[in-house]
Amino acid sequence: MSIISNCTATSVNDAAATLIKGDLVAFPTETVYGLGADATNKDAIARIYKVKGRPVGHPLIVHISSLANLDKWARDIPEYAVNLARAFWPGPMTLILPRTDLAKDFITGSQDNVGIRIPSHTVALALLKEFEDQGGLGIAAPSANRFGAVSPTTASAVEIELADYLSENDQILDGGPCLVGVESTIINCTRDQPSILRPGAITKEMIEDALGITIDLNTLNSESVQIKAAGLLESHYAPNAKIFLTGSPALGDGFIALDSFTTPAGAIRVASPKSNEEYAQVLYEAFRWADIKGLRRIFVIPPTGDGIAVAINDRLTKSAFEK
Ligand code: TXA
Ligand code: MG
Repeated sequence: MSIISNCTATSVNDAAATLIKGDLVAFPTETVYGLGADATNKDAIARIYKVKGRPVGHPLIVHISSLANLDKWARDIPEYAVNLARAFWPGPMTLILPRTDLAKDFITGSQDNVGIRIPSHTVALALLKEFEDQGGLGIAAPSANRFGAVSPTTASAVEIELADYLSENDQILDGGPCLVGVESTIINCTRDQPSILRPGAITKEMIEDALGITIDLNTLNSESVQIKAAGLLESHYAPNAKIFLTGSPALGDGFIALDSFTTPAGAIRVASPKSNEEYAQVLYEAFRWADIKGLRRIFVIPPTGDGIAVAINDRLTKSAFEK
């Protein structure tokens, strides 16, 4: 496995060729790093599952470079989904749409729908464009972490997660730290009305503004049971340290809260974000830092309010869930 730290046109061409050959390329997106493979190559996709240690049958998101390629993967696209795509792509949003024959069972977990995303990170877009120029149709990419673990937001976090499992020809593209820091908003577009399956940086309010409708968040739980999605399991995004969302830290425990909260006596400050956006951006690296330092417990004061705070609270609740 090689780590490419200066992403030039040549290295992006080389990474695209690596994917075309059926090898894996971890690459930066604006949300988190993805572990990419040719979405039409069954053997390459099988390697993603192996490297991640992910149970077979969980669907993967297909990444494409532009709306022009959407029809290849999805059919019967509702008008509201087209409006969402126009409003928020490229960006941190995944749409679940009815699939075409191109989206095979090994991508969709045998469901009749497929998750599609156009990321906005310049390296991700350059890689997707080059991959398509070399004859590729889409890059399947789950977050580049072992199953159930914290998503990587830097290239070195990908290396820590996956170095033991990647092969000689696989690559990690280093595009710097991810700006958003939590995974994309997933929107179910297989019904009359959209619904949010996983909250992210494209918030409920932004979706409602773009479409001029109200979205019912109550459907979230009942739908999660029917739609297979690893990130919808109760326990996920978990560091080795145990996460507490209530109570006070004792001597040597970690502490994460907005900058305005003072560190309780004896606790080790792990992160002090100044805004909820920064909270999302630094959270996963903070978890990793705590694990590297061997902290056993991290006490977190969750952000309040709507917007990105909803996504942060969703991840915090899952990371704190008793395994
Ligand atoms: O921000 C992101 O979405 C990142 C970057 C790399 O794009 N990707 C990511 O992928 O978070 P992953 O596989 O770690 O999480 C995607 C979630 C999983 O829970 C998966 O089960 C769900 O999306 N998913 C994918 N396709 C789906 C589908 N057709 N129906 C329902 N859920 C789907
Ligand atoms: Mg993931």
